[in-house]
Amino acid sequence: MQRFSHAPTDPAFVQDPYPFYDRLRAAGDLAWWDDYGMVCAASHRAVHALLRDRRFGREIPSEMAQPVPEHLAPFYAVENHSMLELEAPRHTRLRGLVLRAFTSRRIASLGPEIEALAHELIDAFPAGEFDLLPAFCQPIPVIVIARLLRVPDRMAPQLLDWSNAMVAMYQARRTRETEEAASRAASEFSAFLTEYIDARRSDPRDDLLSQLIAAEEAGEKLSTEELITTCILLLNAGHEATVHTMGNGIKTLLETGRSISQADAAPVCEEIMRHDPPLHLFMRYAYEEVELFGHRFRRGEQVGLLLGAAGRDPEVYADPRRFDPRREAPAHHAFGGGPHFCVGAPLARLELQVALPILFARFPGLRLAETPRYADLYPFHGLERLVVAR
Ligand code: HEM
Repeated sequence: MQRFSHAPTDPAFVQDPYPFYDRLRAAGDLAWWDDYGMVCAASHRAVHALLRDRRFGREIPSEMAQPVPEHLAPFYAVENHSMLELEAPRHTRLRGLVLRAFTSRRIASLGPEIEALAHELIDAFPAGEFDLLPAFCQPIPVIVIARLLRVPDRMAPQLLDWSNAMVAMYQARRTRETEEAASRAASEFSAFLTEYIDARRSDPRDDLLSQLIAAEEAGEKLSTEELITTCILLLNAGHEATVHTMGNGIKTLLETGRSISQADAAPVCEEIMRHDPPLHLFMRYAYEEVELFGHRFRRGEQVGLLLGAAGRDPEVYADPRRFDPRREAPAHHAFGGGPHFCVGAPLARLELQVALPILFARFPGLRLAETPRYADLYPFHGLERLVVAR
């Protein structure tokens, strides 16, 4: 297997990781990425197969679990109950309970609220040049999740801070400071939710949290820890990726002189997620010895799934750098696939398909006021700023 090296914090890589992915993919379905010290899948077919292969999973094999350092205990107290870090049977049970509360009826009913929120934010845009990320892209996903959980809108900035601090744990550029901030955020967030869950237990409402609690009371038992973790996961998994997708999408549309309307919102948003997705790398462990794509995986060996690379595979997407909402090609992997396929995909699609056409309808002359640059967040892929003029 060919070996490749490229620091994920290298400024040129952060701005444009796709040429590196092309080199990896040209070497075969699997290649070795030195900086992560693991085999990575960069082709569409390898990513597709590995996402669905039950011999691989996200949960760390028990014999490989390391003792958690004291300063990280509060962070892992939350993470250890997260469905995203578990496999069957615990994953199946948690995911089933969340899906039952996260119904398509509930998601679809949010459409008018997202529309009203988009107009409200646009009405408050400053004159002249301004950054669309804090003015538009960041508030929408976090306020929507806050409303789903019926947390007051005024808590949104605090939720955003907690979420950012916890999500930073997954960045290549992680320091001791990042770890301490993540643990602090996990403790504060959990304390807030504990009180909040108690209040909902004694006074259930028509909201997602009350439904998750009801599922527990119907005999399927979500413990308080699981409820806390699930609420935190919905916020953490839900906000950052959606913010980046909106930012990356608006950038591409403005750079290519395009627009987006209600009529073509679905194909344009799918192409945004294929062309420049917000989450580039997820890992899996092999649970047994597996021979795949010419490599023999050891039990416990890690493999990186390069979702960002799969969407640029020229064997599947002709001229993959070109942004073309009319292309007819197999589905992208921005939302993953298989047992961990994104629970929030319908909500994220709704937010993008409602909010982006409103922005472009209200500002037909919207333009970039400076060249957007990506932030050093790998494996997250999103902008530092998105300064526009209307
Ligand atoms: C899982 C992407 C928005 C909740 C995932 C995974 C991906 C993903 C790739 C699977 C990770 C893996 O296989 O290892 C995205 C993208 C989004 C988005 C690109 C926005 C454009 C959301 C939203 C929510 C959400 C809005 C919830 C409000 C979740 C949850 C999981 C998940 C709970 C874990 C599912 C499981 O482990 O079974 N997401 N997501 N996501 N996502 Fe999303």
